[in-house]
Amino acid sequence: MTYSELQQKLHAEGQEQVLRFWQELGAEERHALSDQLEHVDWDMLRLFDHPARKKGEIAPIEGLSLAEIVRDKKIYRRVGEEAIGAGKVAAVLLAGGQGTRLGSEAPKGAFDIGISHPVYIFECLIGNLLDVTERVGAYVPLFIMTSEKNDAETRRFLKEHGYFGYPAEYVRFFVQDMAPAVGLTGKLLLEEKGRLALSPNGNGGWYSSLARAGILREFPAVEWINVFAVDNVLQRIADPAFLGATILSGKMSGAKVVAKTEPHEKVGVLCLENGLPSVVEYYELSEEMANARGGDGALLYRYGVILNYLFRADKLKEIAERHIPVHVVGKKIPHLDESGAFVHPEEINGYKFETLILDMIGLMGSCLPYEVERCREFAPVKNRTGVDSVDSTRELLQFNGVIL
Ligand code: UTP
Repeated sequence: MTYSELQQKLHAEGQEQVLRFWQELGAEERHALSDQLEHVDWDMLRLFDHPARKKGEIAPIEGLSLAEIVRDKKIYRRVGEEAIGAGKVAAVLLAGGQGTRLGSEAPKGAFDIGISHPVYIFECLIGNLLDVTERVGAYVPLFIMTSEKNDAETRRFLKEHGYFGYPAEYVRFFVQDMAPAVGLTGKLLLEEKGRLALSPNGNGGWYSSLARAGILREFPAVEWINVFAVDNVLQRIADPAFLGATILSGKMSGAKVVAKTEPHEKVGVLCLENGLPSVVEYYELSEEMANARGGDGALLYRYGVILNYLFRADKLKEIAERHIPVHVVGKKIPHLDESGAFVHPEEINGYKFETLILDMIGLMGSCLPYEVERCREFAPVKNRTGVDSVDSTRELLQFNGVIL
């Protein structure tokens, strides 16, 4: 694109401010910026002006309760362990996020939550996976999704720590895509005079990025993929009982869930939307729905998701080309101000465009909610202090016998 074509395009989109420092740029920087701008998804940016999609008809979803799982655990576990032993299971660690709430520049998995000695988040997760692989006597390929921002550092950190005892030949990395970020009025931001502020495009792009990286071809026996977040240090990965229950259910996906502690708890709730599995945010549930109870007295909308899902690989392939909705999410975005000074905001100052893994559940067509005990399997490190923080996670790790 020539400079005048670029100007015209940006004028039409109301985004000329990104050329503010053009006169100061060298040839290479100009080329890099126009290249970035040519790749901007303008339709996605226009979503900024549109209200969120209206939800369809919401209904409760049937799931497996703790008591039912305890009753049938032996059989679930046997089926799951057989699948792992036959190489049918892979795990995907979502580690492409920026962890802005935690406020650490390093990859979140490299965060040390120890007290008297280092205990890294990656160490906890890999330790949990090793519990299973050692018991079964077979390794589960571990695919780690990073972003451009933390890929090199994540690889370096894990290599330096010997993958915390996991065999390197079973570890693969892949990098997710980036998307431009905008300020509070929808204007594209710059992170350098010749570079747009880009951020990872959300955890919903994990399958397309994994497929593009070609990693699955190396493990052709894989039939099930367990996808999980980097920040829940207590979660069980490739949990044989969860696998067995999902396989035996005949459903295309499974989701680990915890029972809500009270009707208005701020968690995404698994339910049915127009007959398909879906996650609704706590504010999308009406007062009546939030409080509704079944004959047994339990909340009808009680299953909060904890970002630990199982997906059937053949179905993922089938839905790969389907459209996943884009969410506009308020975040703190480091950028250059009008004078060219770098700003590290303390408050939310703009929006990122993200696709979310929870939207894939509907595309899969069916999902088994599988209840787990919150104090045993859910300790997310999102913030420094308060709810879902380093403090609350330490308490829960200690409760589970981990020496910090
Ligand atoms: P969060 O929604 O907690 O986002 O991610 P985050 O970026 O880690 O943290 P904040 O909101 O900036 O504080 C949930 C999971 O999805 C991954 C994260 O690494 C985490 O495991 N994720 C998120 C990605 O892999 N890529 C993304 O673009 C966003």
